Amino acid sequence: MVKIAPSILSADLWKLGEEIRKVERGGAHLLHVDVMDGHFVPNISIGFPVIESIKGKTKLPLDVHLMIERPESYVERFVEAGADIVTFHIEATYHPNRVIQILRKYEVKVGVSLNPTTPLDSLHYVLEDVDIVLVMSVNPGFGGQKFISFVLDKIRDLKRLIDSRSLKVEIEVDGGINLLNVRSVVEAGADIIVAGSSIFKADNPEERVKEFLRVVDSLT
Ligand code: DX5
Ligand code: ZN
Repeated sequence: MVKIAPSILSADLWKLGEEIRKVERGGAHLLHVDVMDGHFVPNISIGFPVIESIKGKTKLPLDVHLMIERPESYVERFVEAGADIVTFHIEATYHPNRVIQILRKYEVKVGVSLNPTTPLDSLHYVLEDVDIVLVMSVNPGFGGQKFISFVLDKIRDLKRLIDSRSLKVEIEVDGGINLLNVRSVVEAGADIIVAGSSIFKADNPEERVKEFLRVVDSLT
């Protein structure tokens, strides 16, 4: 089953609670939370207080995507704040294995993310130790950008790599996904689809999640 993870980066934060209820009713599986530090990416978004406010109010697991430098300094606080999945960027730390070791002390899923041009080779020594690989299909930092199409080959290669090692690692794809291209992303091998603007900028986000589910469920 392919999971849908709406990204609240594109939600109306004035009424975040209502926005979350809409995607819950639509049948979303996860809630994607984009954390940006103004260093790793040229944007600043949300952090601990928002995650703490959401935690316990929704049944959706919180899928926290850290676009921050030196994640090792902060990951434990994100766990304490309520993250269920913590994903860090491999480019953002000298010590990816240390980040994983820290997170493995807790009951959270661990994800590692790659920018569009970061090669899969960089996963060689981490793939066995993570639950999720998040493949960026835009340059991280902003919602509403266009899907970078060469990433489809990367997803296929990653899927082959995971299967060749008989691992259970899930592939999450993030950026520029809409109703028109989600099919190709799932066919390439995605297990988790992140969608921000195509869900929260829709007239009816609840219905849009259902539309996504109809497409992905028809493929699996
Ligand atoms: C981008 C973020 C994404 C973003 C996706 O840096 O990681 O999660 O919210 O937004 P859309 O779906 O609009 O590209
Ligand atoms: Zn994201």
